[in-house]
Amino acid sequence: MAEKRWNVGIIGCGHIFDAYARLSRVFKPINLVACSDVDMSIGQRRAGQYGLEALTVDELLARPDIEVVINLTNPSSHALVTEAILNAGKHAYTEKPLALAMPDANRLLATAKAQGRLIGSAPDTFLGGAHQAARRLVDEGRLGVVKSGSAHFMNHGMEHWHPNPFPYFQVGAGPVLDMGPYYVTALVALLGPVRRVVALASKFFEERQVTADGPAKNTVVPVTTPTTSQALIEFRSGAQIHFSVSYDNWGHGHTNPIELHGTRASLMVPDPNYFGGALTIIDAEGRHSVETAATVFGNLNWQEPAGATISNYRGLGLADLLSAAESGRQPRASGELSRHVLEVLLGIVKSAEINDFVAIESTVEPPAPLTEKDAALLKAADAPSTFMA
Ligand SMILES: NC(=O)c1ccc[n+]([C@@H]2O[C@H](COP(=O)([O-])OP(=O)(O)OC[C@H]3O[C@@H](n4cnc5c(N)ncnc54)[C@H](O)[C@@H]3O)[C@@H](O)[C@H]2O)c1
Repeated sequence: MAEKRWNVGIIGCGHIFDAYARLSRVFKPINLVACSDVDMSIGQRRAGQYGLEALTVDELLARPDIEVVINLTNPSSHALVTEAILNAGKHAYTEKPLALAMPDANRLLATAKAQGRLIGSAPDTFLGGAHQAARRLVDEGRLGVVKSGSAHFMNHGMEHWHPNPFPYFQVGAGPVLDMGPYYVTALVALLGPVRRVVALASKFFEERQVTADGPAKNTVVPVTTPTTSQALIEFRSGAQIHFSVSYDNWGHGHTNPIELHGTRASLMVPDPNYFGGALTIIDAEGRHSVETAATVFGNLNWQEPAGATISNYRGLGLADLLSAAESGRQPRASGELSRHVLEVLLGIVKSAEINDFVAIESTVEPPAPLTEKDAALLKAADAPSTFMA
């Protein structure tokens, strides 16, 4: 498993590029060689920073030695760019969401199949040490039958830290499509596919003032999509989860981003925005903590400027996809998984619009668990142990 190193290119050199470029050194199968952006001044600057080749998008797609491309463009470009990557005969791995509409998502999966290439998508945090520990507990029956639970993401938006917050407040984004993928992917990986959803939505503000440093500072972002949504998600297993997301909330007290309540025990699951964290199980005997900091991809490796050290292994889903391409198995952060998650998220948006339940038509097998042994095989022998963000 994971003997080959693949030449990888990136399209889209914005905010999240840094994390991918730096963390690529953690993964044995990834050899990052080139980058590209529609704005080549950015592409050239990033290439210089990381010793990469700066190529236009067309040049990158035409290069036979680059077999894999990561799509880090804005969500409205995801489908177009991923399709171009696949049509160039390369494996594609895209940031979330896979696309903004189901016909696009379906077309991408069909194109990958026709080209004999793999398609994968972030988020890959569900492959981290914490969520894989949760998966083991659920699979072992430690919780009994999971009947209910909750997932929360709440903050006050992007305009105070992201230099380009505009896309996040437009149709096709908002907290449901931007942050929802982390929570719903983690839940589908733990509980299986979703049967139906129902939701209400609102927005607190019609516009937002950008305070983040950068060219957009002090400009106004019109808000064209709901920024607070509350959904109920019914899984095919019967589990019912309350899912609440907001870019309007000044603070909250939900210290456990995900809670699962089963017939034998309740499980507090760390934030699927990250790869690590400690779990708590509560049962008739009391509270038990499960630490994951010693796991391969739950290890604390990323020092945030504010002082906290977190687990950050962005790119793990791609490393797994490349290992899958080598061995002929299915990738875990697969196109099928992200298509199902997209349908759930679009269903939440639609439910609030039509004031009714939305049935989810697609289904997916939960991805195979990532054992510690398999995780270790994806890690480069000389992976840096700490990064300063
Ligand atoms: N910023 C974060 O913290 C973060 C975290 C996780 C995931 N993401 C995801 O990563 C993606 C990128 O986010 P970002 O914050 O880096 O955005 P960004 O706006 O900072 O950067 C996007 C870059 O893509 C380029 N681009 C857009 N369309 C293009 C095209 N058709 N061809 C080539 N280049 C194109 C833009 O010029 C820009 O440089 C989004 O899907 C986002 O959801 C972002």
